[in-house]
Amino acid sequence: MKKIALTATAAVAALALGLTGCSSERGGGAAPGETEAPAGFEAGATIGVALPDKTSENWVLAGDLFTEGLEEAGFQADVQYAPASNTVAEQQNQIQAMVTSGAKVIVVGAKDGKQLGTQLEAAKDAGVTVIAYDRLIENTEAVDYYVAFDNFKVGELQGQALLEGLEAKAGHDAPYNVELFSGSPDDANSAVFFDGAMSVLQPKIDDGTLVVASGQTDIAQTATQGWLAENAQERMDSLLTSTYSGDTELDGVLSPNDTLARAILTSVEQAGKKQPVVTGQDSEAESVRWIMEDRQYSTINKDTTLLVEQTIKMIGQLQAGEEVDVNDTEQYDNGVKVVPAYLLEPVIVTKENAAEAYANVPSLLEIVESY
Ligand code: BGC
Repeated sequence: MKKIALTATAAVAALALGLTGCSSERGGGAAPGETEAPAGFEAGATIGVALPDKTSENWVLAGDLFTEGLEEAGFQADVQYAPASNTVAEQQNQIQAMVTSGAKVIVVGAKDGKQLGTQLEAAKDAGVTVIAYDRLIENTEAVDYYVAFDNFKVGELQGQALLEGLEAKAGHDAPYNVELFSGSPDDANSAVFFDGAMSVLQPKIDDGTLVVASGQTDIAQTATQGWLAENAQERMDSLLTSTYSGDTELDGVLSPNDTLARAILTSVEQAGKKQPVVTGQDSEAESVRWIMEDRQYSTINKDTTLLVEQTIKMIGQLQAGEEVDVNDTEQYDNGVKVVPAYLLEPVIVTKENAAEAYANVPSLLEIVESY
């Protein structure tokens, strides 16, 4: 506490002396591995936001909310998306440019969380604070904070929804035939979602309640490169041909998000098979419709507005030289350090609780109420 108070005072003194350009310098003296107290920086500073390609609606929304919210809070917002092709290199260039242009904080939704070390280390050397947004940045010291929905909990909720959906909708008792999908291997979240789901599903596979008829239970076999719908649809097409020809029914699918859930369901519908229970995540408008129409079983509400608000709050604390709010200092080991995190609670949504779950999300509530 003492160190923070002193550093904040130093920042105020620097401001008073007009030394604003130097005010983001770190106080020095923290032991290795310890996060140093923030020094604060000038109001109106530039904040960089480097987002990945727009693989789901939440990323599209995040960009708009950051631009609006940062400007409302008095900052200059520099919000960039990595394009769909050459994404990693482009994101590296964008981060480098943000450092050059004097950004005080860089918020990163990583395309590939393992490939930003060089650029983020340069950012740290320039006194920038780095916040990993939604996706953890791995194998580097150069990340100060992580802000996300609790990813393991997302997976657990998906696993539970799959089980409950099967009991309610499969039309027969166990065993149930299921298939498993996971997200892109370059996104640190993918393994955490999958592990969370498997913490619920593996015991049910072991006791024979669930049968993964293809035998593909390893995360490498279930991965969906780039989180692309076409890759999930292609894998589902080939699973249907290899494993579910004839009378063999597919009862359920673990899908890590809504975009992939709709691709999986499209594949099954095109093959003329019975509709399986399919999970999702993100509360994309089209999936909320499919849930209301009994096509997709569940999604997760991770309200992007809340996540962006929390991130901007943390940036405000950094600007003021205050202690940054975190509520988890254990879970997110990025390979070289445990990154202090602020985790928000995800909410499972099915047709049953949709109206309640979206009570504060007018655009989705409107969809629910139209059914
Ligand atoms: C996010 C998910 C999203 C996925 C694909 C993940 O990192 O946490 O909400 O569905 O990326 O865009």
